[in-house]
Amino acid sequence: MTDLRSAGRGNSLAARDIASLVHPYTNLKVHEKEGPLVIQRGKGIYVYDDNGKEYIEGLAGLWCTSLGFSEERLVDAAARQMKQLPTYHIFAHKSHEPGIELAERLLKLAPVPMSKVFFANSGSEANDSVVKLVWYYNNALNRPKKKKIISRQRAYHGVTVAAASLCGLVNNHRDFDLPIANIIHTDCPHAYNFANPGESEEAYATRLADSLEAMIQREGADTIAAFIAEPVMGAGGVLIPPKGYFQKIQAILKKHDILFVCDEVICGFARTGNMWGAQTFDIKPDILTMAKALSSAYLPISAVLISEAVWKGMLTESEKIGTFGHGYTYSAHPVAAAVAVETLKIYEERDIVGHVRKMAPRFQAGFQKLAAHPLVGEAQSVGLIGAIQLMQSKQPKQAFDPKQMVGAYMAKRAQEHGLVCRALLGDRVALCPPLIITPEQIDDMFRRFTLALDDTAAMVRDKGLAAA
Ligand SMILES: Cc1ncc(COP(=O)(O)O)c(C=O)c1O
Repeated sequence: MTDLRSAGRGNSLAARDIASLVHPYTNLKVHEKEGPLVIQRGKGIYVYDDNGKEYIEGLAGLWCTSLGFSEERLVDAAARQMKQLPTYHIFAHKSHEPGIELAERLLKLAPVPMSKVFFANSGSEANDSVVKLVWYYNNALNRPKKKKIISRQRAYHGVTVAAASLCGLVNNHRDFDLPIANIIHTDCPHAYNFANPGESEEAYATRLADSLEAMIQREGADTIAAFIAEPVMGAGGVLIPPKGYFQKIQAILKKHDILFVCDEVICGFARTGNMWGAQTFDIKPDILTMAKALSSAYLPISAVLISEAVWKGMLTESEKIGTFGHGYTYSAHPVAAAVAVETLKIYEERDIVGHVRKMAPRFQAGFQKLAAHPLVGEAQSVGLIGAIQLMQSKQPKQAFDPKQMVGAYMAKRAQEHGLVCRALLGDRVALCPPLIITPEQIDDMFRRFTLALDDTAAMVRDKGLAAA
């Protein structure tokens, strides 16, 4: 491997990157040696590096660029708003039209009746805000003990202190001294990895619900404020829950007066074949968070939808205290809000939900075909999000040693073949392309994905990593 620092490339973008940037979710030491892939432009579902090489962005950036990389209408919406009112805030009774219009549109779009919208700038901030709102609400109701939030193993909800605590992934906690108090984790719902041999999906879902109820009883329902879930777990591996899971879970939460917080940061805006993941999985949330595809990720913006009951609690508490002491300088930033409004108009005009439904069978067929591959233990998708799980042995099920980084190898090979995809925990390799993808592009994406998979199978064979 070339060491870019000693290779005399002092002025290259790669060398300047190494000298100056901290990269999120990167092995910082390895990065010093290997340097970055520098992306210089984008068009449709493609991005191009500084050598002009083309890549299909098979993960829509970070599960977010729903409309691809060259939607002129979003650029124009930003420019128009920049000229009229480039920045303003909504603290202390101030407001502006893009913020109002976006809030109204989101309330109309919500999967269940919601009362108000709070804006932030990222998924992490939205989920962090939820933790505070849930505590504030229970203080308003004079329930000072009802503060714990149940999340799930392998969940991903962001990186700020509270949001990272909600995550159920070890690297979000380890050596960051997290999680904070009052956040607990229940089981990850994924049949391929965690159902017992011979257990039906229904029976497995019942077992998960029983386990949740046992946790609630152990902790005391009067200490538990909320439960948070992604409809499909994204960063945890693109894990689709077993049939009936959310119905069973919701019945228990209702019984114990526990709020349901639906994290739609990945699933929102048609990703799973409905406008919301909540609709695909029949979830009736009390609070819903969104980000990413809200603006096709062209500008940072996130939102929290709040039910009437929670809103009433916020009213009571802020009247008592004299203010609602929470919010960001850039909450409802007018340029980000204007771009988000334009994004929602495009979704409606182009029937983005209908397009995803038309593309989903072809996407699913691509995964189904890979299920027969000797290295693939599971291939699962819903809408336009899916993953394969690489296994050392399919029967009996045997995972690779994580140290062998087989999934990461496949993602690297994919990059060589002109496809950006993502290796996740447990050697799961994910695809989540821009929603504007066409049938021919889906085929090309799977062609590149399969080349990478075959390269990985060859490496496994050459290194003798496969089960005998
Ligand atoms: C489900 C989910 N929630 C929250 C977040 C955090 O969002 P952000 O990176 O914008 O803070 C992410 C990011 O990938 C996510 O996938």
